Amino acid sequence: MRMVDLIIKKQEGKELTKEEIRFLIEGYTDGSVPDYQMSAFAMAVYFQDMTDRERVEFTMAIAESGDQIDLSEIDGIKVDKHSTGGVGDTTTLVLAPLVASLGVPVAKMSGRGLGHTGGTLDKLESIPGFKIEISEEDFIELVNKNKVAVIGQSGDLCPADKKLYALRDVTGTVNSLPLIAGSIMSKKIAAGADAIVLDVKVGAGAFMKSIEDAEELAHAMVAIGNLAGRNTMAIISDMSQPLGYAVGNTLEIEEAIETLKGQGPADLEELCLELGAQMVYLGEKATSLEEARELLKEKLHNGEALEKFKEFIAAQYGNPEVVNDYSLMPQAKDKKEVYAEESGYVAEIDADAIGVAAMSLGAGRATKESEIDLAAGLMLHKKVGEKVAKGDLLVTLYANDKDFSEAESLVHQAYKFSSTSVEPTLIHETITE
Ligand code: URA
Ligand code: CA
Repeated sequence: MRMVDLIIKKQEGKELTKEEIRFLIEGYTDGSVPDYQMSAFAMAVYFQDMTDRERVEFTMAIAESGDQIDLSEIDGIKVDKHSTGGVGDTTTLVLAPLVASLGVPVAKMSGRGLGHTGGTLDKLESIPGFKIEISEEDFIELVNKNKVAVIGQSGDLCPADKKLYALRDVTGTVNSLPLIAGSIMSKKIAAGADAIVLDVKVGAGAFMKSIEDAEELAHAMVAIGNLAGRNTMAIISDMSQPLGYAVGNTLEIEEAIETLKGQGPADLEELCLELGAQMVYLGEKATSLEEARELLKEKLHNGEALEKFKEFIAAQYGNPEVVNDYSLMPQAKDKKEVYAEESGYVAEIDADAIGVAAMSLGAGRATKESEIDLAAGLMLHKKVGEKVAKGDLLVTLYANDKDFSEAESLVHQAYKFSSTSVEPTLIHETITE
């Protein structure tokens, strides 16, 4: 087999066989297929697309290009959740104990944040004592006992994706639907998920700018998952503003706890109930999405989800008292309030700009080596649809010995106003097949 023939075949819009797709992914992983040929292939895919069958083979070849996590010793159906990028996206912290409280095993492998998007591991380390460096054995034992545990990413998952993503970044081929779908789904499959729930974000602050594009991506990923034998569902949710009010590590833990107490931001609770319902349904702890949603609401409002969160923290050596006393977590010395410079209704809050503002305060890492300040971040006080008068408090910034001016100007850039009220739509669609 010659790579050049596969490039030409795809360039002519023909369907590649399983063997041909294996050849190119394996060759690219071991270095026998060079970057320049893979670039040409990626560009051919960009213009010619892939069939559903090619997409599955491509995804599975990437999933099998490195280590795969074996979760078979965990009882029950392991359901994983993926969000296509979020700023202040606190859902994982709420969902893990919430769905675990209904008996769905949550075996979460999580990463650190890079750039302006946060990582669940960093957030959890705001809790004094919390340990994510546990052995794989302890991890599996904890999930079997408590139904929930979180471990840091280890092993070499999907090396083909790491190389290909870097190559796409510099060859104008990031924005190709089959390449995005394969990249995301391969990582979930390699991480050992039996079933997958996807939160596809749409809006100015998201990868997918239009509902049509988001729908197409969601359908493509759901098809790949189901064809690969992993039951998969998706929702399309709005990203015209950050989720909830808090952006930053300790601040988001506080927000997650408030939500687990049944008194969190309405949008965050709603998204958790929708995603959670799909997880519980796919985990076979309810016979319909409606039933799953009702069961989750009960756990959120009767304190059992919060109890599960405390149990989870204690099992990983953290201090569960944080749920009653937020001052046990790192607190910022300095704060600065940012006021509206104009009047109107909030029309949009650019989540990227808000994320970069939080990063400039120390909440995120500019490079992998940067130290992060767990106490730093910001709280939004006005969300889309709310009426604002000039001089009203928009955002509070939190940091330690930082210059606030960059974050302040980013906040002003992020807020867009209009003269008429807009009603935000949180969930655009639910995709079940
Ligand atoms: N996220 C990924 O992991 N891969 C892509 O290609 C795009 C977004
Ligand atoms: Ca938030």
